[in-house]
Amino acid sequence: MPAQILDGREIARRLQEEIKKEVTRLQRELQVTPSLAVILVGDDPASAIYVRNKARACQEIGVKSDQYLLPADVPEETILRLIDKLNGDQSVHGILVQLPLPPHIEERKVLEAVLPSKDVDGFHPANLGGLLIGNPLFVASTPAGILELLDQAGVMIEGKHAVVVGWSVIVGKPTAFLLLQRRATVTVCQIWTQDLAFHTRQADILVVAAGKPKLITAPMVKEGAVVIDVGINRFEGRLVGDVDFAPVAEKASFITPVPGGVGPVTVAMLLRNTLEACKRACIA
Ligand code: GUN
Repeated sequence: MPAQILDGREIARRLQEEIKKEVTRLQRELQVTPSLAVILVGDDPASAIYVRNKARACQEIGVKSDQYLLPADVPEETILRLIDKLNGDQSVHGILVQLPLPPHIEERKVLEAVLPSKDVDGFHPANLGGLLIGNPLFVASTPAGILELLDQAGVMIEGKHAVVVGWSVIVGKPTAFLLLQRRATVTVCQIWTQDLAFHTRQADILVVAAGKPKLITAPMVKEGAVVIDVGINRFEGRLVGDVDFAPVAEKASFITPVPGGVGPVTVAMLLRNTLEACKRACIA
């Protein structure tokens, strides 16, 4: 039987409605508006689209968002000074530095400059370390979105074999730790993994974040598997994921489309983190 499609747009719409209610409550009861500062360096077209989508979502639910657009040749010191200023600004609750950064900038140094309590992207070592011990302040939006999609679909995670293809700090590694925390048996693969198909065929839950179109074909997927495609690739003039969608959808029980799967839920998770950062700042 063909897979059920996990409609990320619909799930994100419902999540954003809930977040919006909470934002309105905060404004009414505490006269505070959650606020997100977004730093975009350079003119990478994909990053510009992501930042625009995030800004639009903020606007729709009443989160204030300020964009800091810096030229590609900006000195690292200027970014660090800006982050320092935003760290000290009580009216800013979340700070996001859009990745990738230009090659002359040390990405880790910039990400580590963000206060962990404002790190709504979950990329600071304190938050990544928190994830390792099962107690992060913030979880990165994409891994959090993947877990949200699985939960919304009612997928049982405990005891299942989850295979994550991709080991990035943004998606693969945090997703593996979240799945472990939920008591899955987790295998992490890479595009260099020998006999990748052997591993993916074991997966009850298959998460693919490798950035390679059609990396996962139907023979690589177990009948009834849940398939989460995190890839976003431009291929033959279209946006596609890492999974060969139509044939894999014939075998899977659930599958996310690209676009319209993980992406919109990721944005909703960022909004949720920003709301959470604001609440914590108000309570502190
Ligand atoms: N670039 C690709 N994905 C992300 C993300 O989740 N956050 C940031 N800041 N940059 C990205």
